[in-house]
Amino acid sequence: MYIKSSLLRSLGLFFTLFISVSSVRAQYQPTWKSLDARPIPRWFTDAKFGIFIHWGLYSVPAWATNSNADGFGSNYAEWYWERLNNKKLKIHKEFVDFHNKNYGPQFHYQDFAHMFKAELFDPQQWAKIFKDAGAKYVVLTSKHHDGFALWPSREAWNWNAADAGPHRDLAGDLSEAVKKSGLHMGFYYSLYEWYNPLYKQNVNKYVDEHMLPQLKDLVTRYQPEIIWPDGEWDQSDTTWRSREFLAWLYNESPVKNTVVTNDRWGGGRSHGGFNTTEYGSGKASLERPWEECRGIGESFGYNRNEALEQYQTSEQLIKMLIDIVSRGGNLLLNIGPAADGTIPVIMQQRLKDMGDWLKINGEAIYGTMAWKEAPKSKMKDIFYTRKGNDLYVLATAWQNKIAVPSVKAEKIALLGYNGKVNFTKKANGIEIIAPTLQPGTYAGSTAWVYKITDAF
Ligand code: GLC
Repeated sequence: MYIKSSLLRSLGLFFTLFISVSSVRAQYQPTWKSLDARPIPRWFTDAKFGIFIHWGLYSVPAWATNSNADGFGSNYAEWYWERLNNKKLKIHKEFVDFHNKNYGPQFHYQDFAHMFKAELFDPQQWAKIFKDAGAKYVVLTSKHHDGFALWPSREAWNWNAADAGPHRDLAGDLSEAVKKSGLHMGFYYSLYEWYNPLYKQNVNKYVDEHMLPQLKDLVTRYQPEIIWPDGEWDQSDTTWRSREFLAWLYNESPVKNTVVTNDRWGGGRSHGGFNTTEYGSGKASLERPWEECRGIGESFGYNRNEALEQYQTSEQLIKMLIDIVSRGGNLLLNIGPAADGTIPVIMQQRLKDMGDWLKINGEAIYGTMAWKEAPKSKMKDIFYTRKGNDLYVLATAWQNKIAVPSVKAEKIALLGYNGKVNFTKKANGIEIIAPTLQPGTYAGSTAWVYKITDAF
């Protein structure tokens, strides 16, 4: 009798557990309705600033036209191989001339693998540069449209960084260093491949036997917290089997609770995770988290053909970050390392300046939200972010007085400054009176941030 009832109880427990485990497992269905309802993990919307890295065989020629002459991104150096082959493009000849002059007509894109050595690649140094820049996450091109994988991918036999070129697991080594330094690690992954014969001949087979196994391999091997697909426009979300992959990622993968993805899964960039904008074009709204990606210059892959004027200055980058964050977005700022594994010093310098500014003013960026009710009548060069009941007023040009409508204030501070900040109450809102700064009392520059405590 006793045995029977305890058996029954254990069976009952077993079924309850079974049902609850299977209902947890099936939390997300492979439908956009279900997948789109998954909240984007908070770490991502708090992070605000990430580093994008485009690195691969294209970093060897590291060349593109120095303007977007054809309107299709002819200045994107990571598109080198395609530009060389695509006879329909106006800029085709320029690429062929460059290539023939420097490498000869017999030299194939594949031959760049021998020159991609990454001999100076120091993942710890990279991680330190990103951390000192104030970035909270990193997204590396695990595979761009040329199909060359930066990790020992079984599916890309002899076309990956462990079998060819550097003979090293670049993605794994960077992932480890980045995570150790306390930042989140993620991977860009191109769904399509320009010249993979399997992709050309049988896309379904490619998806089943190449793309999905690669994506799952990346996720299980390195447990990245961002999967950043691209090149999705070539097929539909059904062909890519995007919904099935995402259901696996969100229900079963080792990163199911923390992973974040973007909107590039097919289906017109209206499904998946956060929205992406690229050099300003794309969907940026207060309705859904979004991320702007762009280079410091005008290319993602390193383009040696760019001049200093094409690089954003540190001031411009800081202002860009402020503008984006005040509109509820993240900035994924791209760097293009060289084929030898060094990060061009000019890029390092830009990142360092951003980090110096963020050291003083980071609390007005990280973990903030857009002030959705911000009055339309805001002053020029003034931006707002909010955190709880506090409002940050970010001035990208010095102003002696700043009117902030619709708020009250208990206390106002200038971040990085110990002195008092005065303000006056107005009929509608307050007016901040800028303190008189003297050398030695304030270390910041570029943009000045006032914190209004208890503004609402
Ligand atoms: C694009 C480009 C590409 C770049 C990317 C970054 O779609 O094809 O070269 O990697 O977007 O957003």
